[in-house]
Amino acid sequence: MRSFIAFSLIPLLTSASALALFTVPLTKLQRTGTYLKGSPDADRARAAFLKRRTASGPVAIPATNLAYVQYTTRVGIGNPPTYYNLVIDTGSSNTFYLDQVTLAPNLVITNQSIGDALSNAGFQGVDGIVGVGPVDLTLGTLSPDMNATRPTVMNNLVSQGLIKNKVLDGALTYGGTDSSLCEDESMYAPVTDTYPAAGYWGINITSCAYGKHTVIRSSTAGIVDTGTTLILIADDFFARYLHAIPGAKVDSITGLIEIPQRSISSMHSLNFTIAGRVFSLDVAAQLIPKDQNTAWGGDVKKRYGVVNHLGSPSGQGMDFIIGQKFLERYYSVFDADSKRVGFARTNHTFSTYQL
Ligand SMILES: *[C@@H]1O[C@H](CO)[C@@H](O)[C@H](O)[C@H]1NC(C)=O
Ligand SMILES: *[C@@H]1O[C@H](CO)[C@@H](O)[C@H](O)[C@H]1NC(C)=O
Ligand SMILES: *[C@@H]1O[C@H](CO)[C@@H](O)[C@H](O)[C@H]1NC(C)=O
Ligand SMILES: *[C@@H]1O[C@H](CO)[C@@H](O)[C@H](O)[C@H]1NC(C)=O
Ligand SMILES: *[C@@H]1O[C@H](CO)[C@@H](O)[C@H](O)[C@H]1NC(C)=O
Repeated sequence: MRSFIAFSLIPLLTSASALALFTVPLTKLQRTGTYLKGSPDADRARAAFLKRRTASGPVAIPATNLAYVQYTTRVGIGNPPTYYNLVIDTGSSNTFYLDQVTLAPNLVITNQSIGDALSNAGFQGVDGIVGVGPVDLTLGTLSPDMNATRPTVMNNLVSQGLIKNKVLDGALTYGGTDSSLCEDESMYAPVTDTYPAAGYWGINITSCAYGKHTVIRSSTAGIVDTGTTLILIADDFFARYLHAIPGAKVDSITGLIEIPQRSISSMHSLNFTIAGRVFSLDVAAQLIPKDQNTAWGGDVKKRYGVVNHLGSPSGQGMDFIIGQKFLERYYSVFDADSKRVGFARTNHTFSTYQL
């Protein structure tokens, strides 16, 4: 993903009505040291929290489970606004009391419900969360009325006439999509009806293959989550993937897959089929770039992978999490109006660097 220097407004004419799109700056936090060390465990802890949600009962995700998130946006709270760096989280929906929220100079929501994460989030460079998950995720998070939901940022943008469509893309365009970032048409998968994935931006993966090896045999539900760093798949799926890469093992220091250098040149693409289209992660996309090994607490001479285990077996209604390592490669669309998630190829999908 890229950071945009300036706010841009792209008007499109659709059957005589103008739809406003607002693309706001998205920033990758620049940090040093072993700041990603522990991310696989943090991702799994988050997965366990997310899985506890059932059709009837929601769960609250502790903000600390987002400690490793890297993408933030500057959001103004109050009038005049005080600016904070907030994480964009598709896995939660509460954005913190009621106040004015400035997403961009011309994109100001009045009376937005805001949680108190601002006062205690306490992770470096980040002040809180913009929850852009489904509105039902706010159910049960409000006291005393546990049956109430709170309008999310997306709900208020539409009800206050600021955008027409409850659509957000991964480049942080509110109100629609930006096809200039895509190299093919977006493919849309309906939000799955399988719980607990159905409570989030959940979709089904129809199958997944690593070369000739089947990793996922039949349609299975999971979620797309900007708050998860890696790509997590159920433990049995993960075992098949790991077994298919000669000499690969889980490294006890980083918690990542460690792949022997001699196996790299014979690695295959990892192909996910979603709604009839194949989304391929080439070899480079499956590996942590070498110059990031130190950040993950790894050895500069070794090779590590971005796919990891979920911490639970398949068949539980949330069998994978498509996290940042996938979303950095494919354009994504979160369409709350049509209850669907879209993906398209970008010019980063098959970016390579020295293997
Ligand atoms: C502000 O939002 C709250 C809760 O979302 C709602 O109950 C209230 O009516 C709203 N007030 C105004 C002035 O829109
Ligand atoms: C919430 O809804 C349930 C079932 O619809 C009801 O039994 C309960 O009293 C409600 N709770 C509140 C605080 O309104
Ligand atoms: C990738 O696409 C973006 C957005 O369209 C463009 O700004 C950038 O120059 C492209 N990069 C390459 C390497 O083509
Ligand atoms: C995986 O996807 C790549 C790129 O689309 C394609 O070249 C390759 O044949 C696919 N492999 C399998 C086993 O489907
Ligand atoms: C999605 O996957 C679940 C299993 O996780 C399955 O029960 C359901 O039938 C699938 N839905 C579709 C539309 O394939």
